[in-house]
Formats: sequence, C-alpha cells, structure tokens
Amino acid sequence: MACRVDFNKKSIVFITGASKGIGRTIAVELSRNLDQNSIFVLIARSETGLEETKSQILEVDKSITVQTYVMDLSKSDLDDYNRVFDKVLSSVDTAGIEFGLIFHNAGHVGTLKQTTDLTDLKAWREYYDLNLFSVALLNNAFIKHVRPIAPQLLVVNITSLCGRSPTVNLAMYGSAKAARELFFKVLAVEEPKVIVLNYSPGPVDTEMFESIIKDAQSEVLKKSFEEVKKSTVLTTTQTIHLVYAMSPLIFLLKLGWDCRYRLPLLITIGFMLLDVRMQLDINVQTRRIPRRRALNQGLHHPGDGNDNDDVSDDRSDDSWTTIEEDEEAIY
Ligand SMILES: NC(=O)c1ccc[n+]([C@@H]2O[C@H](COP(=O)([O-])OP(=O)(O)OC[C@H]3O[C@@H](n4cnc5c(N)ncnc54)[C@H](OP(=O)(O)O)[C@@H]3O)[C@@H](O)[C@H]2O)c1
Repeated sequence: MACRVDFNKKSIVFITGASKGIGRTIAVELSRNLDQNSIFVLIARSETGLEETKSQILEVDKSITVQTYVMDLSKSDLDDYNRVFDKVLSSVDTAGIEFGLIFHNAGHVGTLKQTTDLTDLKAWREYYDLNLFSVALLNNAFIKHVRPIAPQLLVVNITSLCGRSPTVNLAMYGSAKAARELFFKVLAVEEPKVIVLNYSPGPVDTEMFESIIKDAQSEVLKKSFEEVKKSTVLTTTQTIHLVYAMSPLIFLLKLGWDCRYRLPLLITIGFMLLDVRMQLDINVQTRRIPRRRALNQGLHHPGDGNDNDDVSDDRSDDSWTTIEEDEEAIY
C-alpha cells in the first residue's frame, strides 16, 4: 500500500537517542509539523538531555504530549521494551492516532581502531547489543504494540555511508550499520504495509562526529574528518530538512515499488488496446484511402484528346474515390 506520510495527522512518535544531536533535532523539527494531539516518546540515557529536548518541543507546541524514558539500550531486553510500550499506551489518549513512527537513531561510533586490533570480545558484544540487537527487539515491540492503534506505521533507521563502503577504523561501526540496514530491508519485504526507510544523514556536526576526529587511530581518517568539518559538514537541522524535502520523492519511489507488478501489466494492456485501435484505424484507412480520380485518369496524357484537363482542379466529392472503386477502375 502506498501512503504519503502526512505530518499533520495525529501521530505517536518514538525516538531513540533523543537527548542530543540528530535525535533531538528530529524530535523538535517533527513537533513543528505534527498534529497538536500527537505524542512523543523520547529514549536515551541522559535524563537532562531528554528534559532539554522535551522543553524545546514544548516551546514549539505546548499541547503535544512528551514522555521521556531513561534507558541504556545496550543493556535492555524485550521485557523492558514491552514495559515501556505498555506504560505509554495506557497513559495517553490513543483515539484518532493515524501514524505510528519510530526513529532508530541512538548509536555510538564504537572502537576506532584497525580491524586487527579489534580483539576485545566484550566491546564487540556491547557494541552489537546497542547498535543491532536492541534495534531489532525494540522494533519488534513497536510493531506489536503500535500496529493495533495506528493504521499506518513508519520505521526510520538512521544509517550511515560507512555501512556500505569500507572506511578505515570504522569496522565495528560500519559492520553494525550494514547488518541493521539489511534487517530493515527484510522488514520492508515482509511487511509491505509498513513504510520502512533507511536514512543516511551525511556528515553531521555532532558529538559523534567530534569523537571520530578525537579518538581515531588512523591519522588519515582524522584528517579527512577535519577537512569535512571545515567544508561540507551539515548541521543537524540541515540533514533533517533533507528528509522532509525527500518526502515526495520517497512517496513516488514507494508508489513505483508498490506498482512494480501492476504497472508493467497496465502498460502492456494499454499497448494492446492501442494496437487494436491502430489496426482498426489501418483497416479503415485501407478501405478509404482518398485518391483523386485524376491520378487514375492521369494515365491519359493531357491534350491526348480526352477532356480531363479540368478534372485536376475538381475538388468535389466525386473527384475522390475509395480503393475499392479504384480497384474496379483499374481491373
Ligand atoms: N553525525 C554524523 O555525522 C552521522 C553520520 C551518519 C550517521 N549518523 C548516525 O546518526 C545517529 C545519531 O548520531 P549523532 O551524530 O546525533 O550522535 P550523538 O550526538 O552522539 O547522539 C547519539 C545519541 O544516541 C544516544 N545513545 C548512545 N548510546 C546509548 C545507549 N547505550 N542507550 C541509549 N541511548 C544511547 C545518546 O544519548 P545518551 O548519551 O543520553 O544515552 C544520543 O542521544 C547515530 O545512529 C549515528 O550512527 C551520524
């Protein structure tokens, strides 16, 4: 089902990593557009960060409901997520909700060392707990709890180019992003009614970006991030506005994807109909190709004794004939 996300509708929105950076901006910018009765659920570890995001949302619109949940997503399990959804859904008015949205945004850049130095299994496990396993389980809880109350679900996975192309020192980060992207691609195939997006925000000026410049083992990586910071780095607002700008394009792409079987069929039927019409036209044309008698009669040379010279200028209906008449004339 193709569906354009209408941000004016009453929605329930879950955002992980909403205490700062891109997550905070997603929350505040969305609050400018959503229906006033919408509900925001913000998740991260920092209570003060979440409270700051909440107050920024309420500055935009005081009638929006905002709930904050302090959670370490690297240590939570499915029961914790189910408890959050139960608590939220039992404490808000869910009537009239049209969209259920979740932004899987929380993330960490991981250990910034070359692959052969990534030997700490505990670090690997903690990293994947936060950046892959928690995302999968939280998403499952979201679908289970929010599907019954929201006719349309939208799942946004914040991903990165580093999950597609190899970048030195970013094996931990990139491999988790790659796995996450594929997880959501499978979700999209399995759940065609859910809108699933993988959004790569580009280089954005946040604490995570700074930490790469500060902590990377590779001088080349540090230098390239420093260069980007001086030139093309985006602000969090710029990257979130890009999502809005892309919304119609996303809609068209989704429509095209949804119609991938129907569209070629419709085009084929269209061409078949056109072909029948063309054949009809050709039949009609071959039966009634207008030809001037003068062409046949022109076999007689002017001035050869026949009085046909004036026929060439005769535009009356009698001067035109059908093929059949023509054929009779010839044979
Ligand atoms: N910045 C970029 O250039 C860039 C580029 C491509 C993709 N991204 C992606 O964008 C997303 C946001 O990154 P950002 O740049 O905005 O980074 P950021 O400013 O460092 O924010 C990261 C967010 O994740 C939360 N978080 C981290 N560990 C957590 C945990 N264990 N449990 C719960 N929450 C946790 C943080 O909150 P607490 O610390 O309060 O827990 C914070 O709200 C990430 O997925 C990142 O991979 C960023």
